[in-house]
Amino acid sequence: MERDTQVFNLINQELHRQRSGIELIASENFTSLQVMQAMGTVLTNKYAEGYPGKRYYAGCEIVDQTEQLAIDRLKEIFNIGYANVQPHSGAQANASVHLAVLKPGDRILGLDLSMGGHLTHGSPVNYSGKLYEAHFYGVVKETGLIDYEMLEKQARELKPKLIICGASAYSRDWDYARIRKVADEVGALVMADIAHPAGLIAKKLLNDPFDHCHIVTSTTHKTLRGPRGGIIMMRNDFENPFGQTDNKGNLKMMSSLLDLAVFPGIQGGPLEHVIAAKAVSFGEILSEDYTVYAQQVLKNAQALAKAFVDKEYNIISGGTDNHLMLIDLRNKNISGKKAEQALVKAEITANKNMVPFDDRTAFVTSGVRFGVAAITTRGMKENDMQFIADKVDRILMNSDDDNIIQSVRKEVNQFMEQFVLYPELG
Ligand SMILES: Cc1ncc(COP(=O)(O)O)c(C=O)c1O
Repeated sequence: MERDTQVFNLINQELHRQRSGIELIASENFTSLQVMQAMGTVLTNKYAEGYPGKRYYAGCEIVDQTEQLAIDRLKEIFNIGYANVQPHSGAQANASVHLAVLKPGDRILGLDLSMGGHLTHGSPVNYSGKLYEAHFYGVVKETGLIDYEMLEKQARELKPKLIICGASAYSRDWDYARIRKVADEVGALVMADIAHPAGLIAKKLLNDPFDHCHIVTSTTHKTLRGPRGGIIMMRNDFENPFGQTDNKGNLKMMSSLLDLAVFPGIQGGPLEHVIAAKAVSFGEILSEDYTVYAQQVLKNAQALAKAFVDKEYNIISGGTDNHLMLIDLRNKNISGKKAEQALVKAEITANKNMVPFDDRTAFVTSGVRFGVAAITTRGMKENDMQFIADKVDRILMNSDDDNIIQSVRKEVNQFMEQFVLYPELG
């Protein structure tokens, strides 16, 4: 068959874009070459509905081993007893947990999307807000920190079945013990969605959610630096407390409910090529190199936050404990949308984001979110963060001046030449 130059030319253009720009989108990263190589393999041809050793298709002897490797390595990373590596994405991981634990109409309590939560934590535009009765907690206006008192009050009043913690745009660590305490009081389960900080948790640089949360979900492509995908985990298995029983009248174990929720609940055949790539990335996370990487992520985030604070940017909560920061641009007289558009013209990619108590819509927003997971993979260190803050500031202060933006773009392109990305790809 003739090579599809149309598609491969576009892929090359994307490689060039990733190489020449500064990637500050907090949910992105650059996988290793071997992670990508595992994805582009014959494993994509294999149907393997079911789980290792219990498949609905023949010929799964090899993919059983790659999937088992991914499971075993993931268990080792987080010191846990249960892992499901099949969810196609973070949203699928969360949907599976909901399907396993909840019935339609059940109450859930999550962080408001406009305060940093995720769509799958009960947003009205998402299945989680349509199928379940979703309620929300927020952050304290003055401090930008999770409003645990509000969470506790809501939990006591509403008695939700599931309390969801974790966020897409929250730069501080979580008090999982406090959430578990009120959950036990009201008979709720706790799900932590660690999609963003999972890599830092893996290296014990943040609080351990597994000590306190019944079920933990994550994506694999943010700080974990693996292929795009989702995972579901538990430190210890337990009997589902909500009374669903098997045909002998015994309460079902949560592990079997979660496995059934992923397949056949919401997915069909697993993406075994992606699962093999997950296994490769989990192997990398177990290495000392990755420990150094995770530590550098924290150092870079601290340095970048300080550089912005020095320029009088208002970081929500005043700083960061993890890899990201959310900046309220209202004192800089520029919307998140305009900031995003101006930055991208200079090949600095970041995303607009609502800030807590925002007076603009989700399409415009008053904030911008920056993360350092990707630039740390490129090899940047603390002293490179000043360059980034300087260039971002120059663009935001001159967002209507195309000459200035173009001159910053050239500086950005030149700067990025020293941080080589995928040299093997030519
Ligand atoms: C906290 C959180 N959960 C879940 C997801 C969903 O992940 P995916 O995009 O892989 O479905 C995201 C993605 O941004 C996220 O930030």
